Amino acid sequence: MAGPGTPTPRPPVSGSRSGHGRPTLAVVGATGAVGAVMLRILSQRADVWGEIRLVASPRSAGRKLAVRGEEIEVVALSEEAFDGVDVAMFDVPDDIAEQWAPVAAAKGVVVIDNSGAFRMDPDVPLVVPEINPHAVRQRPRGIIANPHCTTLSMIVALGALHAEYGLRELVVSTYQAVSGAGRAGVDTLRRQLSLVAGTELGTTPGDVRRAVGDGTGPFPEPVALNVVPWAGSARADGWSSDEMQLRDETRKILGLAKLPVAVTCVRVPVVTAHALTVHARFQSEVTVAGAREIIATAPGVVLFDNPDAGEFPTPADVVGTDPTWVGRVRRALDDPTALELFVCGDNLRKGAALNTAQIAELVAAE
Ligand SMILES: NC(=O)c1ccc[n+]([C@@H]2O[C@H](COP(=O)([O-])OP(=O)(O)OC[C@H]3O[C@@H](n4cnc5c(N)ncnc54)[C@H](OP(=O)(O)O)[C@@H]3O)[C@@H](O)[C@H]2O)c1
Repeated sequence: MAGPGTPTPRPPVSGSRSGHGRPTLAVVGATGAVGAVMLRILSQRADVWGEIRLVASPRSAGRKLAVRGEEIEVVALSEEAFDGVDVAMFDVPDDIAEQWAPVAAAKGVVVIDNSGAFRMDPDVPLVVPEINPHAVRQRPRGIIANPHCTTLSMIVALGALHAEYGLRELVVSTYQAVSGAGRAGVDTLRRQLSLVAGTELGTTPGDVRRAVGDGTGPFPEPVALNVVPWAGSARADGWSSDEMQLRDETRKILGLAKLPVAVTCVRVPVVTAHALTVHARFQSEVTVAGAREIIATAPGVVLFDNPDAGEFPTPADVVGTDPTWVGRVRRALDDPTALELFVCGDNLRKGAALNTAQIAELVAAE
C-alpha cells in the first residue's frame, strides 16, 4: 500500500509501448534453469505477447532458443536490450538483477524479478496471483518481485487455509530439490550420481565425500546418497538465507508481520520439485474434513491424500506440473487448532517461472 513518503505508483502498462497492439516481453536469463522452463511455459499458455526478446550474458549472445515454435536469437544484456520492451522477466542471479532491474525500470519497463534482490523492499510488491493479485498495481519502483521457490511451493495452499482459519504459527521443514540451485545444482547431482552408482558407498563416514572429491558444486556436502541441512547462504545466528526468506516472505505475502515461523531447510537428492512438511496453527479449532475441502477447492491446489492406497504427493510424481499438491492432511496430535500437511510443488514452474508468467499476464491485462 502506498503510504507517507512512498513515491507515486507508475502508470500501468496499457497495450504495447510501440503502439502496435500486444506488449513486448523480454526474458532476461533465458538460458538458465528458470529461463528454460519460462520459455516452455510461454509456449504453453494463452499467448498475450507481441515480440518476445531473449536476453542473457554475453556468453550466450547469438544462441538460438525455441519459444512459441519460433527460434529466437539471444541478445546480450545491455540498456538497448530494453528498447521498446513493456514487461521484462528477470531470471538472473541477485547481483545482476540488483544492477539491471532499475536500469530497465528507468526506461519504463515493468520488471518482474525472480531473484532475491528486491523481495523485502517495502516499495516492491511480492506477488502470488492466487493470494494478493491486487498488489501488482502498487509498484512505485516499477519492479514486482516473485517469491522464493521454497515459499512458493507451499504458500498457495497455506494462503487458502489462512483465509478460512487465520494463521497463527508455522513450523516448516523443507526437502529441496537441487534445481533450486540452478543449472549448477543439477549438474552437480548428476555428476555425483555417476560417481556413486553401483558402488557400496554410504556405509562408512566420509566415503561419499571422498568419492565425489571437491565436486560438491553449490552445496557444502555431497548431495548424492545424502541429505544436507543447508540451503542458500549464511545469515546471522546460524540461519540460512532460504530459511530467513521463507519466514520473511510468508509474513509479507499474507500480511502477517509478526507471524512466528520456525523453519529448517534441507537439500535432498531430487532433481526438481520441492517438498515441505508444514505444521500450521490457526486461530480456532480445525477439522480435517474442513481443511480437505478448502485444499480441494482452492485454485492452483490439488488434494492428493489417500495414504491407505499409497496416495500422497512426491517430487517424482508432481515434477513438471503446475499446482501445489497437498497430502497427509492430519489434525495435530496434541493441538486441535493445528494441521500437519505434506506439500509438494515444482520449484521451476509454480516455484519460479509459472508465478512470474501469471504476474506478467496480470500486468499485460492492465
Ligand atoms: N532454480 C530455482 O528453483 C529458482 C526458483 C526461484 C527463483 N530462482 C531465482 O531465479 C534466478 C535464476 O535462477 P536459475 O536457477 O535459473 O539460475 P541459472 O540456471 O544459474 O541461470 C542464470 C541465468 O542468468 C544469466 N546470467 C548470469 N550472469 C549474467 C550476466 N552477467 N548478464 C546477463 N545474464 C546473466 C545466465 O546467462 P548465461 O547462460 O549466458 O550465463 C542464465 O540465463 C536466480 O536469482 C534464482 O535465485 C531460482
